[in-house]
Amino acid sequence: MQKLEQLYEGKAKKVYKTDDPNLYIVDYKDDATAFNGLKKGTIVGKGVINNQMTNRFMAKLEKAGVPTHFVEELSERETVVKKVSIVPLEVIIRNLSAGSFAKRYGVEEGIVFDAPTIEFSYKNDDLGDPLLNEYHTLALKLATPEEIAVIKQYAFQVNDFLKAFWASCGVTLVDFKLEFGRLDDGTIVLADEISPDTCRLWDSKTHEKLDKDRFRRDLGGVEDAYAEVMRRMKEAL
Ligand code: TMP
Ligand code: ASP
Repeated sequence: MQKLEQLYEGKAKKVYKTDDPNLYIVDYKDDATAFNGLKKGTIVGKGVINNQMTNRFMAKLEKAGVPTHFVEELSERETVVKKVSIVPLEVIIRNLSAGSFAKRYGVEEGIVFDAPTIEFSYKNDDLGDPLLNEYHTLALKLATPEEIAVIKQYAFQVNDFLKAFWASCGVTLVDFKLEFGRLDDGTIVLADEISPDTCRLWDSKTHEKLDKDRFRRDLGGVEDAYAEVMRRMKEAL
């Protein structure tokens, strides 16, 4: 597998072409941003943790029946993935109130929902990733009704899996964001990452935040939190 020219640089990852037209290499950075890039920083070692955590989850989810873009981990920070075109939706599942949900609806954080919620944002930095519903998604031709149905089904399957896994590590899965892609034949697969950057993870007993909110909210101990959830994950696998 040969790493060829860089195709794209995002806030947390770079994507490279390879000598196989159907495969890309993603390279995870330690760069961290928040509030649509307004706040910038570095979380030392984050790239390694996010790469390894994502790949372990993707491999498990694949076995549980959720197709993913994951192919093979190449190094601490690099992974071979299937070439996809990303569906421009951020798919957010919530089990407890937190973050923008708590703010938008004027409720405290930490309310346990009777059933998980799902919401979509239009993945568009210039517009600040505005919230949208399924009708808006169809109007904007971002996805077909069939694609939305399968994305919702996979997103709740991912929640069932992740929630149970993190519970076994003494961690509460508060909420998370997923992205999906289309293979050349139109198949929808889970893409992007599943990491403390994209999930809210609270210690089940103390409710201590073990995720990127420590960076977003200047709580300190960011690196330690990432290392702690990675340690618990390795222990449970
Ligand atoms: P929110 O409460 O800010 O809407 O975030 C919900 C979840 O989505 C949370 O687990 C963090 C994750 N998230 C991302 O992965 N990327 C983003 O750009 C944002 C705003 C949130
Ligand atoms: N994606 C956000 C940003 O743009 C970061 C976040 O809040 O997770 O900077």
